[in-house]
Amino acid sequence: MDKKQLIDDDLKYIWRPFTQMKSLEDASNRPIIIKRGKGIYLEDIDGNKYIDAVSSWWVNTLGHSNPRINKVIYKQAKKIEHVIFAGFTHEPVIKFSKKLVEMMNNNLKHVFFSDNGSTAVEVALKMAYQYQVLKGHSEKRKFIALKNSYHGDTLGAVSVGGIDMYHKVYKPLLFEIIQAESPYCYRCPVGCAKETCNIDCLSSVENILKEHSKNIAGIIIEPLVQAAGGMIMYKAEYITKLRKLCDKYNILLIDDEVAMGFYRTGKLFAYEHAGVVPDIVCAAKGITAGYMPLSVTITTDEIFNAFYDEDKDGYKTFYHGHSYTAYPLALAVALENLKILQEMNIEEYLKPKINKFSEQLEKFKKHKNVGDVRQTGMICAVELVKDKNTKEPFSYEDGIGKKIYLEGLKLGAILRPMWNCIYFITPYIITENEIEKLTGIAFQALNKVLPDKE
Ligand SMILES: Cc1ncc(COP(=O)(O)O)c(C=O)c1O
Repeated sequence: MDKKQLIDDDLKYIWRPFTQMKSLEDASNRPIIIKRGKGIYLEDIDGNKYIDAVSSWWVNTLGHSNPRINKVIYKQAKKIEHVIFAGFTHEPVIKFSKKLVEMMNNNLKHVFFSDNGSTAVEVALKMAYQYQVLKGHSEKRKFIALKNSYHGDTLGAVSVGGIDMYHKVYKPLLFEIIQAESPYCYRCPVGCAKETCNIDCLSSVENILKEHSKNIAGIIIEPLVQAAGGMIMYKAEYITKLRKLCDKYNILLIDDEVAMGFYRTGKLFAYEHAGVVPDIVCAAKGITAGYMPLSVTITTDEIFNAFYDEDKDGYKTFYHGHSYTAYPLALAVALENLKILQEMNIEEYLKPKINKFSEQLEKFKKHKNVGDVRQTGMICAVELVKDKNTKEPFSYEDGIGKKIYLEGLKLGAILRPMWNCIYFITPYIITENEIEKLTGIAFQALNKVLPDKE
């Protein structure tokens, strides 16, 4: 089928996510047809190659078309591709769960499976609420969530979301939450500077707890980075102090590691940087290195045991599951992924790459429209502003992100800036030379769209 026909059929039959479909009338907004991927590169139908600077929606960690993962999919498909996970089980899920719990090596010991990040969050919210009910606290039915947060697109996940553009229209359908300030260091909600930050923004959470803790089941956070909110980064100490607040006011800490988990921050899970353990952890994306949809919600003995009892009327059972819960093909990949990451000695492997990124980010700092440059492990972000002194952001209509995206494509990288933020979330296998190349492309694209010297 020729390219024109493929695009015509795409436009005719497919309703795309996060997309105003009418905008596709403009040819520059049309999707690019990807034919194949290899390592950090994606290749389109015309043979153009692009660095996948966004790891294909932040999922890919080991590069595209990894031979070991490809082989495992084939091997597992020949054995059993799928089996009902009620009353039946299989080796990949057992081995993976055991290995993951051993790697975490703390009191998170029970793994519940679903198949994407949003549902991992739904599971966490339902689990937290039912836990409170089972403990005799049915009045604890609200959650605290942070401004600028994103936890997925199903209704529970949207309820705890904090990005108006995505979430506002659904408000009448959502359950009530209490929103706390976002720990947005560059635009500090309590007027502090990054250098002197003493995590004062956490007072917003404590104030809510002082008044409402008897009605609160838990708080949900994106650890260290509010990703879809614009790669907003904050100190690990925030989580350390938050854990203490959760204990003091007897609420659960739900840690949404969907984007950060599986070494994105340099450690298996981001909470490790804070030296604390959450009550519930959600993870997805990198769990299968980006090859299969899979997610987990992991919890403690304390929560698991609250459900574990004689249950004549069924009210202590956790009623949740999906057709693809613990999908064997995905689990075989997830297990292989853990083995590969361990063999790579991934924490050490990532260190020079993290350093290379921070060295290369320096060049952005002097640009007249760069307000903030931030990095957490393998995540880097450059926030663009109209004016460095006032921090005035570009408006949506300025379309800066799209212009940079289009320049990036011409130069051979998929950048996809978010809001006013250029970011890099690459596969871990990117080399130091490729980091130089990618950041160079982004810098060139930035200067094309917003020339530094006029
Ligand atoms: C922190 C966080 N939670 C949840 C989700 C939702 O995951 P999914 O898109 O797999 O449903 C995302 C997606 O980007 C995310 O970044």
